[in-house]
Order: sequence, then structure tokens, then C-alpha cells
Amino acid sequence: MRLGSIILFVAFCSLTAYYVYEPIPEEIEERWKLMLTNSFFRSLSHLADISELLGLKDYMGVMYFITLLEKIAPVSDEHVKVTEEKFDGVEVVLYQPKHRGSDTDLRRAIIYLHGGGWCLGSSRMSPYDLLARKVVTELDAVVLSVEYRLAPAHHFPIPYEDVYRVVKHFLQKGVLAQYYVHPGRIAVSGDSAGGNLAAAVTQQLLKEPSQQIQLKAQALIYPVLQALDLYTPSYQQNQYMPILPRTLMVRFWSEYFTSDKAFFRAMMANTHNNPESSSLLKFVNWSAFLPETYHRKYNYSAPAVTEGTVAMDGPSRSLADPRASPLLVPDAALRSLPKAYILTCEYDVLRDDGIMYATRLRAAGVEVTHEHYDTGFHGALMFTVWPTDFLIARRMTDNYIKWLKENL
Ligand SMILES: *[C@@H]1O[C@H](CO)[C@@H](O)[C@H](O)[C@H]1NC(C)=O
Ligand SMILES: *[C@@H]1O[C@H](CO)[C@@H](O)[C@H](O)[C@H]1NC(C)=O
Repeated sequence: MRLGSIILFVAFCSLTAYYVYEPIPEEIEERWKLMLTNSFFRSLSHLADISELLGLKDYMGVMYFITLLEKIAPVSDEHVKVTEEKFDGVEVVLYQPKHRGSDTDLRRAIIYLHGGGWCLGSSRMSPYDLLARKVVTELDAVVLSVEYRLAPAHHFPIPYEDVYRVVKHFLQKGVLAQYYVHPGRIAVSGDSAGGNLAAAVTQQLLKEPSQQIQLKAQALIYPVLQALDLYTPSYQQNQYMPILPRTLMVRFWSEYFTSDKAFFRAMMANTHNNPESSSLLKFVNWSAFLPETYHRKYNYSAPAVTEGTVAMDGPSRSLADPRASPLLVPDAALRSLPKAYILTCEYDVLRDDGIMYATRLRAAGVEVTHEHYDTGFHGALMFTVWPTDFLIARRMTDNYIKWLKENL
């Protein structure tokens, strides 16, 4: 009896230690809070694996619990009028200031795209709702938060196309007038997968000759920008980092394109490139686009190319599509892009995606503000709500809003 209790107790302790303990770098602030937060994410991820293995519910279906946990019904308050609408058939949550300074003053607008690896998340999650309200009140701006459809139920390009439709619909003289928005002061912004969609939409919009109203700025928060090299120095350095370990990011990428597990395995091994995508590897060459300090410890070798074995079907073709990987466009296509804000975190597999884009945009003559957080981790901006509220999230929010104030 006694021995049984002891065994149980030891098992419990080691299991707890296993979940909580993760080698989190000393530099990160509030490490214990991050360890505990991460143990929740890891437990859920293991539960999701088991559930999929047993055929109960697929992995992303279980992970979606995170979204539900934080989902709220956005309602108007003293300062902000909130409405839920459909723009060209796509759901959006619209935040408008309640008071207007003067009848002739037009407002700025931010089209916001939430993160969650194209598979999770919602504009109705409380951290996004809070951020939208803060932007509305501090900038006296309109925020349009897009509820694009998600993978794996809706693979690429559906999430992207939903966003594009909303942006095209919003950027019409008549629609902007309805919300008192200045046509010359509109930005698109997003975090993580939302940053990917924001960068992609900004590029594609420029290619439309009939598009009269263009975006003034793009603000990308730790964006995902390429699917060709999933073994950049930041992917290597941060592969077990909290919140977004490499496996989860690779899983998001593969689910965005296809539910075929063979593609996921090829992406894990970084052997997923085909002859078409490999001709674009020069655009994501970290040996050329990262500052020396970031790749000193790593030797560059181009990702392997699989000839023939991967059929040139949907997922394989999507790899070379800049609407999925905005880093894949040539310099000429970067030149006339609007000014950019790019936030990157040191402890993030996606760090190098953001840095490479900043480098390439600057080289093409685009005005870039690159804010790098030495103690930052992926997803930090979302952690503004108790009990998972982090000091770094507050700093990031303040700096992000400050940039919008000064540049939009
Ligand atoms: C990447 O850049 C390095 C030089 O920094 C070069 O040696 C290598 O061939 C390049 N690889 C690709 C695929 O462009
Ligand atoms: C990089 O290559 C050099 C020379 O071949 C080798 O000494 C070093 O160990 C390699 N570094 C890594 C991180 O693989």
C-alpha cells in the first residue's frame, strides 16, 4: 500500500517535471511563467497526438481547444463600437471609434489578420479583441479583424483568398466613406500566420492594375514567410522552444497545404523541395541574407531536392507560390511595396524568416523598421491576459502601436 503510494507519487512528480521542465534560455524573463504556460501547450499537444492515433479526433481539432478557451463575443463598450459583418461573403469583426472629432476628419484603418498557423485562432479571441480596442482608442482608427476560414478543413489558397477578398472589398471608395476612412492611410497587419497573409496580400494587391487604392503600410509581427527551408539557423536553434517548437510549425505548414502525412514527414526532414521550388531557394538563402552573427555557428547547405517521387500536384506546387511564401518573389517585385514594420524574436523558429524579409526589402529600397527582441519568444504579443500575461507582451504592444501612430 505504502509502496504503491510512493510509486504513484514519484510517477506524478516525474510526469509533472517532464512537462514543466524545458531548457528555457536564461535570458527570457518570467521563465517560470513561460515554463508553466508551455507545459499546458505540450500536454494539449500530446493529448492531440494520442487522440489522432486512436482515431477520436484529428490533431488540429484537439489543438483548436486553445482557440475556444479564449473565444469571446465581441461587444461594444464606452469608446468602441463593435459589429460583426460579412465583406464579400467573409466574416469580419469591425471596431470603430464611437466619437468623431470633427465631421471632416477621416480616420486611419488597420486590417488585422490573427495568427494560429492557418489552423487555429480567431479574431474573436480575447487577446486580439483587446489589441483591436487599444489600437482603435489610441489611434482613433478603424480596425477590421478578418475571420478567414481555416485549414485543414480549408487548405491553401482558401484562407489567403478569404483575406484577399476582404481587403479588395474594403479598399473601395464607397466602402471606406461609409466608415470615414482615409483612402491613403490604411495598413494591413498580422502576427505569425497572420503576418504571412498580410505580406502576401500586400504583394498581390500591387500586381492588380485596376486597384486604385493601395495600402500605406504593412506591419508584420513574427511572420511566417517561407516554406522552402525549414532548417534555417533559427529553426535549428529554437527547435524545442516553448509555444512554437519546430514540429508544430512544420505541422502547420503541411496542414496548410495538405492532410497527406507523407508531406509532413518530408517537411520534417527538409527534403520536401521539388525542382520547381528549388529554383527559388536563392530567395531564402540564409547564408546570404542573415547577418554574420546569426549564422556563424551553422554551415549552409541547400535543402535536398526530391525529383519525381513527390508528384507535382497541389501541395507540391503550392510550395513555389509566393501567396504562401512571400519571400519567394524576385527583387523587382519588392521594390514598390509599402513601408514595413517587422518584429522578430530571438527565441523563435521564425526569426530568420522575418530577418531575411527585412534584409531583402531594405536592399530593394523599401523603408523598413525592424524591431528585434533579444529576449522574445514566439507568440509573446498574445500573452496579455491573466494568468498568462507577460511583461514583454506589453512592451511589444506599446512599440507596435507607437510605430503605427508615427507611420500610418
Ligand atoms: C547561398 O549563398 C552562398 C553564399 O553566401 C552560396 O555559396 C550558395 O551557393 C547559395 N545557395 C543558393 C541555393 O543560392
Ligand atoms: C561547419 O564546417 C566546419 C568545416 O567543415 C566544421 O569544422 C564545423 O564543425 C561545422 N559546423 C557545424 C555546426 O556543423
